[in-house]
Parts: sequence; structure tokens; C-alpha cells
Amino acid sequence: MKLWGGRFETEPVEIMEEFNASLSFDRRLYREDIAVSRAHAMMLGKTGIISAEDAKAITKGLKEILTDMDKGKFTFSPSDEDIHTAVERGLGEKIGETAGKLRTGRSRNDQAVTDLRLYVMSDIDQVAMLIADLMAALTDRAESEGGAIMPGYTHMQKAQPITLGHHLMSYVFMLDRDAARFIDCRTRVDILSLGSGALAGTTFPIDRDLVAKELGFSKVSANSLDGVADRDFVLEFMADAAITMTHLSRFAEELILWTSREFGFARMSESFSTGSSIMPQKKNPDAAELVRGKTGRVTGDLMAMLTVMKGLPLAYNKDLQEDKEALFDAADTLKKCLRIMAGVVRTLTFDAARMSKAADDDFITATDLADYLAVKGIPFSAAHTIVGNIVKICVRKNKRLTDVTLEEYKDFSPLFERDVLDVIRVKRSVERRESAGGVAPKQLKSQITAARGLIAARGNDPSPGA
Ligand code: ARG
Repeated sequence: MKLWGGRFETEPVEIMEEFNASLSFDRRLYREDIAVSRAHAMMLGKTGIISAEDAKAITKGLKEILTDMDKGKFTFSPSDEDIHTAVERGLGEKIGETAGKLRTGRSRNDQAVTDLRLYVMSDIDQVAMLIADLMAALTDRAESEGGAIMPGYTHMQKAQPITLGHHLMSYVFMLDRDAARFIDCRTRVDILSLGSGALAGTTFPIDRDLVAKELGFSKVSANSLDGVADRDFVLEFMADAAITMTHLSRFAEELILWTSREFGFARMSESFSTGSSIMPQKKNPDAAELVRGKTGRVTGDLMAMLTVMKGLPLAYNKDLQEDKEALFDAADTLKKCLRIMAGVVRTLTFDAARMSKAADDDFITATDLADYLAVKGIPFSAAHTIVGNIVKICVRKNKRLTDVTLEEYKDFSPLFERDVLDVIRVKRSVERRESAGGVAPKQLKSQITAARGLIAARGNDPSPGA
């Protein structure tokens, strides 16, 4: 069926039909599409634009179509251009020509974008819960095993000792910002476009507030051109998804390093690893690698849609049909990756001994040594130079800071006393960093408490339809 056959004398060629159709990907919007149509029909009846009887027939028919589609019993026709066409055709087959009244005061342009807004709002709710679940998985591990000391890195060189808990919690706060971004984005998705008509509104005395209320939108769009042409909400969702994926990929990369033989900080569970067809010994961290790789896809989806929107004149253009595949791909990928990462985190085995061995190495407490001198009254810059010299000599003599005797330290500065040997211990270095947000165990505890509050606020039930 065509919703626009009247003006045409011939049919489009087959390849054009196929090129034009969006049913293969927009059929996943059927619930939203039917909800939007039911709200519209109800409003048409209440305002007297159509008779109450017709409105009732339409809403009843739509309800049956919903049931059929839910059960997989609805037969889509190859000629259904999109989900809107399929539903209207199905309705016509059920209730006859009254079905055509559903189109009063409405266009597919405002309908398609309204469907999508509903879909994105529900996806945002799911994503926020999945993020909270990953935050909970990380916080649990930080609480149970977070005291383990590990090296902290800058430039991928050992920098200062930190704890596993401190490292894991950094991702919790990152993820909380991601969730906040999605929730903020939701306020700009939560706008009813329906009622904008094709582009200029409608001559019918429609009641948009009624439709908004029925569908759960908190506002109606203020300008009909913007109402049909706005896809900022899609861009914003995808930008938020790309940022979240970027965070996941940083963590994925670290997990890949940590689970390597060279690091050996953790082992990935067999349930999230795979093997090699030729090398019998291999256990590869595929889950993390795929998360890292799929980040490219989601960033690509965002770029694709920004490019579609660039220079697009108002109002509706068929280019806008491209919004759906990119959005669905970004949302599906993100949701899958969040679930995978939560599973990976819950099943990792950390090797505290390997981490602590890696931390107790190198000149990792050199900053503590410089701080020690600065506390005794010399400028930090001068202390930095003295410790730099100590490190230089140590490198030359193949010694570690802990191999240097008190007498040797005193040769570099008379300010060194016996307690310096304590200050350069890795454990002390961690314990003494008590500044707010620092690596000390007390600070980790308050991070965990704060995170528990954030997780509770986001809700941590990832089940609903995600
Ligand atoms: N399938 C279309 C889309 O996804 C629906 C809107 C069609 N509007 C039109 N004027 N042809 O954007």
C-alpha cells in the first residue's frame, strides 16, 4: 500500500521501492508507533475532530494490531514502505476506510520523529540502569579487594603507588558523569513533536497538550518546523553514547594489559574469553577487545549522523530517515557493551601479589622522598633536584631507593634522618596520601560511600527490557 498514490500514474521501479523503504529497520518502533496513533485518535475523538465512534473503532483496531505484532502474527507486506504505512494498512484491513481518518491533522513527518523520541527516552532509562549496574560491579570489587597496592602510571611508566580500589573507583565516577549526561539529554528528548503536521502545523483544532499527557511527554515543541526537523536529540544521545564507549574502551584497554602475561595483574574469566584455532595455549581477552573495537562503531554512528544533518535545509527531508539505523546501532552496541563489561568486572580474578610486586619496584616513591625534604623546609624544586640526583646515581649503580643506606642519603642532604627509610616504603606512600580524593584507604572508603549513593540514585536494576 502507498500512503501517497493519488498523484502518481506509475509505480516506482523495484530498486527504488527497496531504496526508499525503512520498514526493515523501523519496524522495531511498532509499539511507539501504535501508542502515538492511539493517543492521536483519542485526541481527535475528544476534540470532536472525528466522531467518538470512529475514534473508538480506530483505537480498538490499533490495539489488535499491537497484539498481533507482539505475537508475531501480523503479516508485513513487501509493499509496506515503513512501519507507519504497515500499521495504517493493517488498520484498514481491520476496520475499513475509517482507518484513513487517523491521518487527520497529522503527517508521517511529525509521527516518525515522535515515535523515535519515545524510543530514545526508554533507551535512556535502560542505559542509565545499565551504567548504574556497572558502577555497582566496580564498587563491589573496590570494596572487597580494593586495598591491594598496584603501580599507578603516567606515560605508561610507573609513577606513584596506588590501590586497585582507587583505580576501579575512577571509572565509577567517570560512568556516573556518563549517566548524568544521558539523563540531562532526556529533558531535550522529552518534547512532543506530534501536532507539527508536515511542517506548518494544522488547520484542525488539535489539542497537543492532551496528546503529550497521554504519551508521557512533559512539553510540546514550540515551532512546527523545528518540531519535525530537530534531530539534536539523536545527535546528543549518540554523543553521550560515544563518550561512554570511549570510557569503556579505556578500561577495556587496561584490562587487556592487566591480563597479559607481562602484567599479570588479573585473569579474565573463561566465560568472557576465547581461544585460538592454531595456538592451543591461548586464552584471549576478546570481551575487552570487542568493547574497545566497538567504540569505533559508535563514534562512527555519531559522525555519520552529524554528516547527515550538516547543511540539511528545513524542514523534513528524506535524509532524516537515516537517523534510525545509526541511532539503533549506537544504542544496541552501547547496551551490549555495558552488560559485557559488568560481567567481565564481576568475574575477573585479581592477583594482588603480582600487583604489589609490580608496585614495589623502580623509583616509584621518589615523590615521597622529595616531599620529605620539602617538609623539612627546603623549596620543593630544590628537593626535586636532590632526589633527581639520587635516582641518577641509583640508575648508574643499578640500585633501588630502598637499597640506599641512611648514610648515603645523608651525603645528598643532611636533612635526611632515619624516618626516611619508612617514608619510601610503598605502603606508607599510599597511606600518607590523605588529601581529598587521594589514594589513602580512608579516602577510598569515602569514595565507596559516595558511589553507593550515586548508584542508588540512578537505580540499579538493569532488567527492564534492556
Ligand atoms: N519513513 C520515514 C522516516 O523514517 C517517515 C517519514 C516519511 N515522510 C515523508 N515525507 N516521506 O523518516
